[in-house]
Formats: sequence, structure tokens, C-alpha cells
Amino acid sequence: MSFYPFVMEAMMSQWEKVVEYNLSESGVYPISIRELVKDPQEIDELLEIGLDYSQTNGTPQLRERISALYPGSTPDHVLVTAGAAQANFIAVWTLLEPGDELAIMLPNYMQIWGLAKSLGMVIRPFHLREEQGWALDLAELAEAVTKRTKVIAVCNPNNPTGYILTEAEMEAIVAAADRVGAWILADEVYAGAERLTDQETPSFWGRYDKVLIQQSLSKAYGLPGLRLGWIVTQPGMRDELWRRQEYTIIGPPILSDRLAEIALRPEVRPTILQRTRGYIRRGFPVLQEWLDSHGDAFSLVPPQASAICFVRYHLPINSTTLVERLIHEQSVLIVPGDHFGLDHHLRISFGLPPDYLRAGLERIGRLIRQIAG
Ligand SMILES: Cc1ncc(COP(=O)(O)O)c(C=O)c1O
Repeated sequence: MSFYPFVMEAMMSQWEKVVEYNLSESGVYPISIRELVKDPQEIDELLEIGLDYSQTNGTPQLRERISALYPGSTPDHVLVTAGAAQANFIAVWTLLEPGDELAIMLPNYMQIWGLAKSLGMVIRPFHLREEQGWALDLAELAEAVTKRTKVIAVCNPNNPTGYILTEAEMEAIVAAADRVGAWILADEVYAGAERLTDQETPSFWGRYDKVLIQQSLSKAYGLPGLRLGWIVTQPGMRDELWRRQEYTIIGPPILSDRLAEIALRPEVRPTILQRTRGYIRRGFPVLQEWLDSHGDAFSLVPPQASAICFVRYHLPINSTTLVERLIHEQSVLIVPGDHFGLDHHLRISFGLPPDYLRAGLERIGRLIRQIAG
């Protein structure tokens, strides 16, 4: 079996803490502990926590908070994980065996794609089409899902495009899964990070029996350092996933579990999501203005959610070469379209403090002007 490295994360691992301007991250500027925990008594309680193992599937208090977000679920439907990354890993491990078919929406955060390829699964892609504003290619979905399909993997809102599926597209995915009895693996980490509305992106939860919802505090909540995510699914499947969790991380860190419970309180959660949307809504016009200042070098279908955009550029240079030059010549990191199988695109983040964002974009602009001649 061949191993396919996760090329995007590998490049980020190497450079994100080295460059002067990191515009590769897909979440917003992170929250500090001080910003999250305001009550002095609560801070005292945190300092008293023994640094023990925690409840390995997540504490009942945290699972209660999570299940409150998914109507009809209970804490027994929830597994707390070390981020959506670990959730995706154990989901693939649990649901698929070598030779099984996986239908996957592309472009995509390529973790599930690369993992499934490395583990010998058969991958059948279906695409969001840029020329149609990143709408889902329904005909291709119908073809990609066969009698042998075990799992349909989607990322909604989508990384890297920020596209949000319409109701009709969600229904088509559910119908395709139902037709063959496949599981839907729905990575919803950007739900709550909407740019144009305060309406949270609808979940696949409750639309079909065989779904696994992945969510995390890393993106819409601005808390990636907690390394805390979750899966919501039927209790039987939840237990199968939990058995794999014990082989990977045993359980989530005790401090992260406690801080997550604070972040998800009904009086705290909306303020965090508004903070995230604030970064996204302040950052996007800065990015748009910068794109416009380069004439017709760029074209963009604006993202509906997330703090990233997937820009097409019209210059005679490969995207990985361009990004490598940016790292070495301008000390800026962004993500090349090659990492999503779409050259001549760049993924650029904008959920950052405006001065930092402007300075990073200005550096990218220097190289773009040079290449454009
Ligand atoms: C779509 C998607 N899923 C999962 C992850 C992993 O996130 P984490 O493990 O920080 O929750 C990311 C990170 O960029 C992502 O973009």
C-alpha cells in the first residue's frame, strides 16, 4: 500500500511558524484564554483542575452542550475528539476497508481523500463547478455513487471555496446515499462562520439515519489550539468510533474539554460566532480591494462562509512554484491550488487583523506584479 502525504498540512507544518505573514490558515485570528474565561472565579477553578486523563469520550457536561446543538441527539450520540482531524481519521478507519468505494466532493480539505487513498480505498470524486459559482455537479454525483459506495464525504461549508450547499443539493446527496445505503460523512467545521448571514449553515444532522457529523472548535470558534472536535452519530456507531479513539489519543485533553464546555454555553457561543463573523466581514473587503487593484490578474467566486477564498489567477506560473517563491522571497505563506488538484488557484485567508492582512497581501502583490511584468 502506498502512503500519500497530506501535502497541504506538510507545507504548513514546515512554514506556518517560520514566515513573517501566515495567510494559509483557514480559521480566524485565535481567541486568548483571557478573552474566553472572564470570570475570576472560573479562572481559579481552572487552576485547580488536576491534570489527569479526562473522560475518554468527552465529559458528560461537554457532550450535553454539544448534543443541545443537534435536535434529537443525546450525549450518547456524541464523541469528543482531538479536533476534526482525528474525527476524520477514525471515521475513515471505522467506515471503510481497503477496496471499498468512497464518493467524495472535490475540491475538499484533502485529509479524507489522502487517507482513503493511502489505505487502499477506491475514490470516486464529484465536483463543485467554479464556472457555475461552485454549484454541485448533480449528474456527476449520481454517477459517482454506485451500489458499492460505502461512504459519501462532503465538506459544507466547503474548504477551500467557502461554498454553502443549497437545500436541493443537500437533498440530492441524501437521496444518493439512501439509494445505496451509504453513510454520509459531513465535515461541517465552517458552520457558524458565515460571511453573508447570521443564519447558521444547515447541518446534515436529522436528514438521514446514517450520518456522521464532524465539527470542531478550530474554525467557526477561533480555538484551534484546544485541539477539540466532535462527531455526532447514532449511539452504536458512536461506540465503534470510540473503540478506535482508544487506539489513537485515548481521550481529549482535560483542559480543552473544560474550556470547550465554556465556549459552548448558550450565553457564550453566540458571542464567539459573532466575533468570527466580524473578522470574516472586516477581512473580506480588504482582500477584495487588493484583488481588484491587480486588474484582471485574479477572478474570484466570493466565499459564502469561512475565512478563506479560493482565487483563480491568470498568470503563467504553476501554483506551487508561485507559493514557494512567496515563502522564500516575501516570507508569506498561502496555499497553492495544486494541493486541491486545481492549479492556477490560490487559497488565501482573510480572517485576520486588517493591518496584518494588508501587509501580507502587499507582499504577495509585489511578486504578482513582477510575474505579470
Ligand atoms: C474542512 C476541515 N476539516 C477538518 C480540519 C481539521 O481541523 P481541526 O483538527 O483543527 O479541528 C480542517 C482544518 O483546516 C478543515 O479545514
